[in-house]
Amino acid sequence: MSFYKVLVIGDVGVGKTSMVNRIVYNTFSEKYKATIGCEFGLKIIEINGESIRIQLWDLAGQDRLGGISRLYCRDANGAIVVNDVTREGNLKQACAWKNSVDENVCMADGTPIPMVLCANKSDMLPPESSITDETIQRFALENKFVAGFLTSSKTGLNTNEALLQLVEKIMSKH
Ligand code: GTP
Ligand code: MG
Repeated sequence: MSFYKVLVIGDVGVGKTSMVNRIVYNTFSEKYKATIGCEFGLKIIEINGESIRIQLWDLAGQDRLGGISRLYCRDANGAIVVNDVTREGNLKQACAWKNSVDENVCMADGTPIPMVLCANKSDMLPPESSITDETIQRFALENKFVAGFLTSSKTGLNTNEALLQLVEKIMSKH
């Protein structure tokens, strides 16, 4: 059975814990409780008849002030970089998070570990918003993410899809 370690990272309050809870328990809460240090979630998915165990490392958003600890990044197979689409300039922050991971961990061959970009809280975007799945995907590919999605931890939009794309990429590299 394959086992992968996936980091869930991004600024304070963007919805990392909510995304893990959506993926693992299919639940959502409006209440905010800041993550201290790191919490864990385990998700098992079937791909081509094989069970894949994914350990999600839900890190506190505050930690980027000092970069992400090398300890957290150690042996990570991939990362979900979460941002809040309702916050101006937050996509750039996603790149800062990606760089922070790249500084701390890489594949055995020296290439970066796969990461997906989740532009979260998309349920709060006004209908006339110019931010779409296409603009997120384009930004993600330009910045060397595997893929980018508009997501919502609240409704569950694209949360499983993002994880699946990440895991498929991880598997293709192992
Ligand atoms: P830290 O642990 O402090 O880094 O925050 P976090 O990124 O884990 O954020 P968390 O999941 O705790 O969510 C912060 C707040 O945003 C909570 O009140 C959630 O209910 C809310 N929230 C999270 N995701 C979504 C979403 O997709 N849509 C909406 N509308 N609210 C969300
Ligand atoms: Mg949290």
